[in-house]
This record gives sequence, C-alpha cells and structure tokens, in this order.
Amino acid sequence: MQEPKTRPHVLMMSEITADGKLTLKRGASSKILMKYMAPETEVLLHNTRADYDAIMVGSNTIKIDNSFLTVRLVPGKSPLRVIPNSRADIPLDANVLKPGAPTLIAVSGEAPPDRIAAIRSRGAEVVVAGEREVDLPLLMQILHDRFGVKKLMIEGGPTLNWYMLQHRLVDEIRLIHLPFIVGGADTPSLVGGMHIDSEDEMIVLRLKKHYLCGSNLVTEYDVLYGEKVHGISR
Ligand SMILES: NC(=O)c1ccc[n+]([C@@H]2O[C@H](COP(=O)([O-])OP(=O)(O)OC[C@H]3O[C@@H](n4cnc5c(N)ncnc54)[C@H](OP(=O)(O)O)[C@@H]3O)[C@@H](O)[C@H]2O)c1
Repeated sequence: MQEPKTRPHVLMMSEITADGKLTLKRGASSKILMKYMAPETEVLLHNTRADYDAIMVGSNTIKIDNSFLTVRLVPGKSPLRVIPNSRADIPLDANVLKPGAPTLIAVSGEAPPDRIAAIRSRGAEVVVAGEREVDLPLLMQILHDRFGVKKLMIEGGPTLNWYMLQHRLVDEIRLIHLPFIVGGADTPSLVGGMHIDSEDEMIVLRLKKHYLCGSNLVTEYDVLYGEKVHGISR
C-alpha cells in the first residue's frame, strides 16, 4: 500500500534561455527576460498558477524581481504565496506583502521578533519552520497539514530550486524555453548549489511532454529520484 502523502505535490516551473540561464546576469531581474515570452506562454503560466493551491519563490527573487505571484491574465483564484525567508528580512514594501492573494512567510528561529511583527502587520501570516534556516521538508509538511496545500508550484530562483531538489521535494519540472543565449559563467541557471562529483549523483528526469506554446517550446518532465543513469536506455 502507498504511504499517505504528507507533503504537497510539487511542480518546478521556469523560463530558461537556450543556455539554461534564468536571467541576464547575477543580480538582474528575470522580468527583463520574461518580457520576451510569447503571450500564449504568459497565459500558460497564469493558468498554472490558478490551478495550484500555493506558489513559492526564494527570498532573493522577492528582493530582486519584487514579484506579485498573482493570477492576472486569466480568470481564477491566486494561490497562497509562500516565501522562505530565514531572517524575515524581505522589504516591508514588497509586492507579495500587498493585497491580491494571501501570503505566508516561513522564517527560522533566528528571525527577529520585531521583523516578524512588522510582516504580520502587513497582513501576511508567518510560520517558524526550522532553527537557523528554513527547514524545507518541515515547511512542506506544514503547508500540507496546516494550510491544506495539495499542489505547490515553485518559480525559482536557482538556490531554492537546488535545495528543493536536494531534499527530493520536486515531482515535476515544466520549462519554458526562450530562444536566447545570454552567457556568463556566474549567471544564475535553473539550479544553483554545489557541483556533483560523478554521474551517479545526477538527478534523472523523464521527458513526458513537449509542445509549442505560441512561439515558445515547453518541455515537461517527471523527476526520478534514485534512478541510476546507467539504468536509463538511450
Ligand atoms: N527565469 C525564472 O523563471 C526565474 C524565476 C525566479 C527567479 N529568477 C532569478 O533568480 C535570481 C535569484 O535567485 P537566487 O538563487 O539568488 O535566490 P532564490 O532562490 O530566489 O532565494 C534564495 C533564498 O531563499 C532563502 N531560503 C530560506 N530558506 C531556504 C532554504 N531552506 N533553502 C534555500 N533557500 C532558502 C534564502 O534566503 P534567506 O536568508 O532569506 O533564508 C536564500 O538565499 C534572480 O536573478 C531572479 O531574477 C528567475
């Protein structure tokens, strides 16, 4: 019998260039690249948001992109906005702290109480999940058990993507391919973090769908943790 799920089903969705980058250079907003997404793909992104219970991005994406994370281009309810932010230091005028959708800021035990109070005063909920850093597996359990989140999408950035994959918390990946090359050895790509030492550590994906959405190629994968690359047929 299958174990009951104590975490949401997680989709990682991202716009990436042909060289796998998420933005023009380190510190630059991905909104510059997103301007070049086909209108049909923007609708796909907003339809996906409307279909999910919650959407999560890393705190650095909030600081750089100042994302709204709401559903605007299609009818539908905006999902719960979830931001892991260990020390509760996102700007208090961030767009995710403005009305438009409910917001949950996940902090660690190191977050100063006055910052927590200031975020709460903006109408967002705050949960403590973890001691020094936000504990992502614990946050997933809290989202599932306390907030009824069955389906969560994550929209980056690379640091959050890497930690979520390291903890085996991502089930599916959907990529919107933008026909550009931006280059830059330190330009953020889909997944950041540490390098691996051998092919045995590669995370294996299974391509399940590919299609054109307007002029953009979209690819969809299942994440196969524990599958050894040597077992994959070519
Ligand atoms: N093209 C796209 O689809 C797309 C989407 C999103 C972002 N981006 C781009 O990505 C860049 C930002 O990415 P980034 O890698 O610098 O930052 P990020 O992944 O957005 O945020 C990382 C931050 O999240 C916080 N965090 C809290 N708990 C964590 C945990 N357990 N594991 C991991 N992170 C945790 C950490 O900050 P605390 O200290 O606050 O805990 C960490 O520094 C920007 O340039 C943005 O434009 C592109």
